[in-house]
Amino acid sequence: MKKKQSIFTEILLRWFGENGRDLPWRNTRDPYAIWLSEIILQQTRIAQGTDYWLRFMAKWPTVDDLAKASEDEVLRLWQGLGYYSRARNLYAAARQIVALGRFPDTIEEIGKLKGVGDYTAAAIGSIAFGLPAASVDGNFHRVLARYFGIDTPINSTEGKKLFAALAQEHLPHEAPAMYNQAIMDFGAIQCTPVNPKCVICPLAETCVAVRMGKTAEWPVKLKTVKVKERRLAFYYVRSQGRIAIHKRGGGDIWQGLWCVPETEHLAAEWQGAARLLRRDVRHILTHRILLADFFLLDTSKKPCLPPDFIWIEEAKIDDYGIPRLIEMLIEAVQAAR
Ligand code: ADE
Ligand code: SF4
Repeated sequence: MKKKQSIFTEILLRWFGENGRDLPWRNTRDPYAIWLSEIILQQTRIAQGTDYWLRFMAKWPTVDDLAKASEDEVLRLWQGLGYYSRARNLYAAARQIVALGRFPDTIEEIGKLKGVGDYTAAAIGSIAFGLPAASVDGNFHRVLARYFGIDTPINSTEGKKLFAALAQEHLPHEAPAMYNQAIMDFGAIQCTPVNPKCVICPLAETCVAVRMGKTAEWPVKLKTVKVKERRLAFYYVRSQGRIAIHKRGGGDIWQGLWCVPETEHLAAEWQGAARLLRRDVRHILTHRILLADFFLLDTSKKPCLPPDFIWIEEAKIDDYGIPRLIEMLIEAVQAAR
């Protein structure tokens, strides 16, 4: 027997029919295209994400094409999006899919792909295959907490379970893809974190937060400890038209990306000869705030550097995947000419 949709779901889906965004990956059922969009959108805004999604689809139209590329190529096209582990995982997952011989089509299997957590597995599974799984993220937490009037902290163990169960309970089995994408859009356009548009909201009449004047207080979130700051100094070392870079290893930030020397790579006398370009450049990573100093060392004699460094033509730096912060160093060097 078909279960009747809740008022919440019914109104939400109607809203989506009238207000849903027309995004390029919504005009396809290709799991590869959908998976790619979800990985890109994990920490990226729609406008920027759309740009990159189009570029990736143009360069690698199928998962086989992506798997045949090199990790460096993938990192290079990813450049500017940040959170580079996503690009490395994307590439690794492409190879997983090719090895499997087909795109995985259950939530469990999709969740085994590198870089795919519960949220992303549910998003891909529902959108590409119509699987009945709610993709529960901050949008779901916010909308559900407000509409149903729930003050359990969304980042507590209890809250995570509760919101997941509630999201699942209201999922219409005949339209999981619409339901999940409706929440994504509703959370982005209508029930926004700050100043939700309750006055023009079709759920307002039955919304607990509105009735109780609590829209600004819900969802409740437990405070977490502040992220630590880390100081770094980067040296743009230029000699005979070439600059020194190395590929970063594991166990630290920016694994697999190329980078210029830091303090520990360069003898003290060379550091002393460098010119300070910028101090205390703040750069925010997932678990760290970096405070970077930028230096320029122009010298005819190549300083001795650890063996993993290579000297490349200055103009060729675009061929290497580098972190955004190092792009900023290069910009500072160019501005200093
Ligand atoms: N954010 C994450 N996935 C999305 C999608 N499929 N559409 C819009 N925003 C998203
Ligand atoms: Fe969100 Fe306001 Fe709509 Fe309630 S009435 S669901 S708080 S936008």
